[in-house]
Amino acid sequence: MKISVIGCGYLGAVHASAMAELGHEVVGIDVDEEKIGQLRAGKAPFFEPGLTEVLSSALASGRLTFTTDIAHAAGAQVHFVAVGTPQARDSQAADLSYVDAAVTSLLPHLGAGDLVVGKSTVPVGTAARLAGVVAEHAPDAMLAWNPEFLREGFAVRDTIDPDRLVYGVADDRATAMLDEVYAQTISNGTPRVVTDYATAELVKVAANAFLATKISFINAMAEIAEVTGADVTQLADAIGHDTRIGRRFLNAGVGFGGGCLPKDIRAFVARAEELGRGESVAFLKEVDAINMRRRDRVADLAIEALGGSPFGHKVAVLGVTFKPHSDDVRDSPALDVAVRLKGLGADVVVTDPEGLDNARGRHPQLLYTEMTEEALRFADLAVLVTEWPEYTALDPKAVAGLMRTPRIIDARNVLDPAAWREAGFAYSGLGRN
Ligand code: UGA
Repeated sequence: MKISVIGCGYLGAVHASAMAELGHEVVGIDVDEEKIGQLRAGKAPFFEPGLTEVLSSALASGRLTFTTDIAHAAGAQVHFVAVGTPQARDSQAADLSYVDAAVTSLLPHLGAGDLVVGKSTVPVGTAARLAGVVAEHAPDAMLAWNPEFLREGFAVRDTIDPDRLVYGVADDRATAMLDEVYAQTISNGTPRVVTDYATAELVKVAANAFLATKISFINAMAEIAEVTGADVTQLADAIGHDTRIGRRFLNAGVGFGGGCLPKDIRAFVARAEELGRGESVAFLKEVDAINMRRRDRVADLAIEALGGSPFGHKVAVLGVTFKPHSDDVRDSPALDVAVRLKGLGADVVVTDPEGLDNARGRHPQLLYTEMTEEALRFADLAVLVTEWPEYTALDPKAVAGLMRTPRIIDARNVLDPAAWREAGFAYSGLGRN
């Protein structure tokens, strides 16, 4: 099929490349000239494992092109809208201006029978509103909502081989067109749920709200473990053996961040309140509060470890992205902790395999190094905040030899406390005895 993908960020760049890889003829469109220049040159504008390979192969096939000119969407039959919906500057709600602008700019280029497919995460009710906009300006075109569930770090795999496909449609022709787009994925056995707009929109936010709730649940247990001497990691293992509960997303630590979970639960609460059903998801405010308290907890542990005052002490922050295998520092708990400790007067040195440029752009006041050893050398405290494999594999004896004082806060509960204590470390985890 001929496909356009509007928005070439973390979602759209992967989607465009993956669709071309699946055999479609794809044009990726973005207003950011620098990003489009990089993509055209086969260079992923952000770190995502496997993206460079799929991008190069799709470009070489001749089936993938990139442009800043929305007029090149003309001729495609399916138009994916994959722009961001960040938190609004002045409220907890989602900022829909990019989605609205993308759809509006597309309208003059829509042909009869074209399908506009929303991929962005939006408040329930958006698809119905945009379907009205499309119907008014291009009466022969259709709209569908097809939420995306990819995880950063696994985005290529999740796009080509997702857990499920969800179509929010108002027309059987839209379903048939999406089936053609995803023919290969469907033939691989991926389940597909065909539903209305509102359900499709809600599936996405409900899934992220559930994941956020699961993380905050275990972090709440960590808070209780901290005052009782229990160990939250063993607790998670034990309850996780119950297949109804499951062990995944029960890793207690500094909590969730990124461009999705935090803003999605806030936007969900804001939308529910608009709908007069705020009480139904009021618990998500507590989920958010528990999550933010974990960052306070890590900062408090650091202050405590440094004898009450971090001033003048060197602190090595290991990891700055919101999770490993990504360069994304949006709402990163690690960056937040680093900034807080810097604000308390510590000499904070941040290291990370992929996230330094993004972090430096946001917080130039911090010191950054690519070398883990350099961050740790003569440090009074190390804080492991993002569980990159290179940090979880660190040898405690070697680290002890580098630091001025062997103290570590394991803010992701990924280290073996016994091994670190044996190497002379004052070790603290979160919710771990
Ligand atoms: C999340 C969802 O998992 C995706 O399904 C969804 O498509 C995406 O948001 C989105 O809406 O676009 P992502 O933001 O890439 O994906 O990251 P996750 O893997 O969900 O992790 C989110 C945060 O939770 C990270 O900061 C991670 O460190 C934290 N986390 C995760 C925990 O603190 N504990 C856990 O047990 C699991």
